[in-house]
Amino acid sequence: MSFNIAIDGPAGAGKSTIAKMIAKKLGYIYVDTGAMYRAMALYLLREGVASSEKEKIGEKCKEADISIGYENGEQIVFLNGENVNGFIRTEEVGNMASASSPHPGVRQKLVELQQKLAASKDVVMDGRDIGTCVLPNAQVKVYLTADSHVRALRRYKELEEKGVACNLEEIEKDIVERDHQDMTRELSPLVQAPDAILVDSSDMTAAEVADAVIALCAKKA
Ligand code: DC
Repeated sequence: MSFNIAIDGPAGAGKSTIAKMIAKKLGYIYVDTGAMYRAMALYLLREGVASSEKEKIGEKCKEADISIGYENGEQIVFLNGENVNGFIRTEEVGNMASASSPHPGVRQKLVELQQKLAASKDVVMDGRDIGTCVLPNAQVKVYLTADSHVRALRRYKELEEKGVACNLEEIEKDIVERDHQDMTRELSPLVQAPDAILVDSSDMTAAEVADAVIALCAKKA
């Protein structure tokens, strides 16, 4: 049986950084489910669909074939065969992913893909509904959060390092809005699974969080 680690939490909590560190240390596969929702959002944006057009999202999402692969340990997301890693990290795509992900057609398709991956391989999977819906039997579940101001500051620094012009206040406003959208949607909202361990990373380094999760895994193994 495969060993599954589920990491859920709001935007900018450090899920992907920590999940990648754990995957590297344990030799597991890292599955970034947000990237799949982002690839779907990219397809919808390219097709000119607006986030408010619910019916159109349901129709159009059927045309998008999303799959993932790995190159040098890095997850690659393919949208209808095209490597779209270079296009999915913008705020526009992130906001569209948050707006389109509540749609049942979108979720059904991507959850199925995620469950297939985890059934045959040891994975560290991060997202919003991994511990609650995608992998309810995951051996280790973590709900990773941090103060919204800390999360905004982290994202601001990340963008600044990349040379992208940004505004801290706007980033925090975006993060708070995205949290609200992800936490209040009807289908698979972001909530802490009853059996998930709550980790607040506001005053922790990524290495400290990763070590804490690895210690939890050792206990369960
Ligand atoms: O983690 P991220 O910022 O890349 O995710 C983008 C959006 O995708 C997020 O705001 C909500 C959605 N998402 C989701 O609904 N379920 C997941 N398991 C992962 C992401």
